[in-house]
Amino acid sequence: MMKTISFFMLMMITYASFNVLTTNGANDELKTYIVHLDSHPQGQQYLVSDAKLNEWYDSFLLKIALKFPSSDKPTMVFSYRHAVTGFAAKMSQAQATAMANLSGVLNVWPESIYHLHTTRSPEFLGLRTSPNGLWTHSNKGKGVIIGLIDTGITPGHPSFNDDGMPPPPQKWKGKCEIEGCNNKLIGMRSFVNGSSPKDVEGHGTHTSSTAAGSSVDNANVYEQANGTASGMAPLAHLAMYKVCMPLGCAGSAILAGLDAAIEDGVDVISVSLGSFIAFPFYKDPIAIAGFSAVQKGVFISCSAGNSGPIPSSVTNDAPWLLTVGASTQDRRIRTSVWLGNKVLVNGESLYQPKDFEQKPRPLVYPGQHSDDEKVKYCVPGSFKNIDVNDKIVFCDWGQISDIKKGQIVKEAGGAGVIIANDEIQGQSTAAYKHVIPASNVGYKEGVEIKKYLNSTSSPFATLLFFGTVDGLKTNPQMASFSSRGPSIITPGILKPDVTGPGVNIIAAWADSNDTSGPSGGKGMFEVIRGTSMSCPHLAGVSALLKSDHPDWSPAAIKSAIMTTASQVDRNGVAIVDERDHPADVLAIGSGHVNPPKATDPGLIFDIQPDDYIPYLCGLGYTPKQVEAIVRKPVSCSKTIQEGELNIPSFTVSLKKGERKTYSRTVTNVGKPDSIYTIRDKSLPHGVSIEIETGTKELEVKEMYEKITYNVTFIRDVNDEEKGQFGQGHMTWECGKYLVRTPFFFKFE
Ligand SMILES: *[C@@H]1O[C@H](CO)[C@@H](O)[C@H](O)[C@H]1NC(C)=O
Ligand SMILES: *[C@@H]1O[C@H](CO)[C@@H](O)[C@H](O)[C@H]1NC(C)=O
Ligand SMILES: *[C@@H]1O[C@H](CO)[C@@H](O)[C@H](O)[C@H]1NC(C)=O
Ligand SMILES: *[C@@H]1O[C@H](CO)[C@@H](O)[C@H](O)[C@H]1NC(C)=O
Ligand SMILES: *[C@@H]1O[C@H](CO)[C@@H](O)[C@H](O)[C@H]1NC(C)=O
Ligand SMILES: *[C@@H]1O[C@H](CO)[C@@H](O)[C@H](O)[C@H]1NC(C)=O
Repeated sequence: MMKTISFFMLMMITYASFNVLTTNGANDELKTYIVHLDSHPQGQQYLVSDAKLNEWYDSFLLKIALKFPSSDKPTMVFSYRHAVTGFAAKMSQAQATAMANLSGVLNVWPESIYHLHTTRSPEFLGLRTSPNGLWTHSNKGKGVIIGLIDTGITPGHPSFNDDGMPPPPQKWKGKCEIEGCNNKLIGMRSFVNGSSPKDVEGHGTHTSSTAAGSSVDNANVYEQANGTASGMAPLAHLAMYKVCMPLGCAGSAILAGLDAAIEDGVDVISVSLGSFIAFPFYKDPIAIAGFSAVQKGVFISCSAGNSGPIPSSVTNDAPWLLTVGASTQDRRIRTSVWLGNKVLVNGESLYQPKDFEQKPRPLVYPGQHSDDEKVKYCVPGSFKNIDVNDKIVFCDWGQISDIKKGQIVKEAGGAGVIIANDEIQGQSTAAYKHVIPASNVGYKEGVEIKKYLNSTSSPFATLLFFGTVDGLKTNPQMASFSSRGPSIITPGILKPDVTGPGVNIIAAWADSNDTSGPSGGKGMFEVIRGTSMSCPHLAGVSALLKSDHPDWSPAAIKSAIMTTASQVDRNGVAIVDERDHPADVLAIGSGHVNPPKATDPGLIFDIQPDDYIPYLCGLGYTPKQVEAIVRKPVSCSKTIQEGELNIPSFTVSLKKGERKTYSRTVTNVGKPDSIYTIRDKSLPHGVSIEIETGTKELEVKEMYEKITYNVTFIRDVNDEEKGQFGQGHMTWECGKYLVRTPFFFKFE
């Protein structure tokens, strides 16, 4: 049973901030607004040419300019065509209010700013080494184009060399705004005013090379994580759509980047950014443009967010998007702490200088000697009354960055730093580019060190460097920062969908002149973490699937990834979260991506774009709000509950004694004449299920045959759980095929 959480607080925060258009205050500050137009019937005729379209869009700006003769005219920022029907314009709030009132306008809202969700991965995912490795059998993403919506890219980086790459497919219409494109990197465009698509940040270079970078030998950071770096789909092409500035990524630019990606002809889109505020789908550029992408058969992978483990922190949660959480790989960059009581605790750091003498030194915990709450975090000024010279300093996680703590200890003359997680971060650690010998340790290790500190008046410790340790079988583990469900916008859809590698990910970096490493190494690679890193892993995996199955819809690819995902680590034990508890479905979704299985899933749960219309109406959206997303006439005469959407998971709220039936339709992509039976199912206390298939088993005779079955969930009349959550799953089996669907229950 999982713990109760408060939805109410989160709802309050979420809905507080975007009702700008309802006030009529004299706020004349110019802002960028996104204007959605009715794309039918008069709209359709304008969509035929760019000139006609822009003329139509300009007519709305003109009407507003005439209404406000003494104000600045509203100015066009972006004109959209594929992602939405509408445009972005700079105007005052009064002008925006008037715009919303014009006939033909569906919606007007101020854009919001989105934020970045910031190599052994191929082996870890079973792509390269295992005999059934997907690379051995698939064409490595050949012919597929992956578009990234990000901070730009670094042309000329070895990860983007095009050795062995065929030219882009005929359908490609993209372009390169700067020099440096080749058969690997086939497009570079910027939607940030006055900025080239070149990456000055690093994030977009990293995500691009993770999705489809070419192989580069001897990739390492500070000599750690050394090996051959390669993207998930090494033969796929890359196209960059730069939408982010150093301060964030404007909603209008995100829409413009997605609009261009769809127009250019990408097959897969990777979006490693999101909003801290949960918007309804008709106000969320990623959900809206993502829907247009899916209508055109383009698969879209998105980061779930880095706001975990707070409940309901998941973003990019529309059911047509793949929402990706983050977990560890089987690698740590290990620095351990040997305590004076002969206890060894493990930790991590990338910085492991060869000239550091790994000898016992006095251990000091500033927090132990001060009443000032902040001192334990080693904030500036914490060592006023403490001698840290040549000592190892123990600090609690929080308040300032971990690297900054090391900097402060170093400036005070300290020899090393240990940083211990709080209880919420738990056992989730990562390796950082510290500036001083360091060890980031988990919560339990921190408690162990504190116990030792309490037990003696002269504590001492040694920092030991063990370099890169691979093959750790208790992985993957969910990362504490990975955002959690349930979704606020669509609580009846289980999110995130899956998890993938997002901790200690080594990939290409922009700043190739960074020689600050101990070996003076060129900073061509960087190790970072985030759902920003797991999202392009899944974009790359979907490129492999797309290349193997060009006829699969985005929903089919998503289903194949979800129903074959794994719930166990390398020891066959349940994947744990940051507390060392088995990770629940709100953290892990369907499980950890398992690419070799995903390419041959047996059955898929398919969805056509129009199937989302009754679902969107069922969320309580007005026909106009739904039209802004789906761009066609909608009456909302038919609605369905969220649980009735044909997705490979079930989210069910049940009162005492209640029964609820959901139907699902599977399509056979395995073998003809197959009989599937329930292999295993698990249910929380007090819940039972009935499965009706018409016959005893689930029998499919032909390839692509569709079979519908019903699942009824029944809650015991005497069950006492209230306001609690529960989980379970069922798995269809036929020979090698296992088709698993997780359950999430809310007891009312
Ligand atoms: C883009 O920059 C140009 C030149 O600096 C400026 O004139 C224009 O108004 C800017 N456009 C937007 C949408 O900010
Ligand atoms: C909206 O339009 C109506 C009539 O079409 C008009 O009476 C009203 O003043 C308009 N409101 C604004 C804010 O322009
Ligand atoms: C990385 O690995 C390669 C191949 O095993 C080796 O030749 C090279 O010296 C290693 N580099 C570092 C910095 O460890
Ligand atoms: C160490 O001692 C302090 C002060 O007596 C106490 O608050 C703390 O809980 C102790 N920590 C551990 C891990 O025993
Ligand atoms: C790296 O150095 C080269 C040669 O000095 C220079 O041309 C290039 O612009 C530098 N790159 C960056 C990202 O600073
Ligand atoms: C599923 O339930 C619906 C509605 O209750 C019913 O019409 C249909 O026959 C059922 N399907 C099967 C396979 O039992």
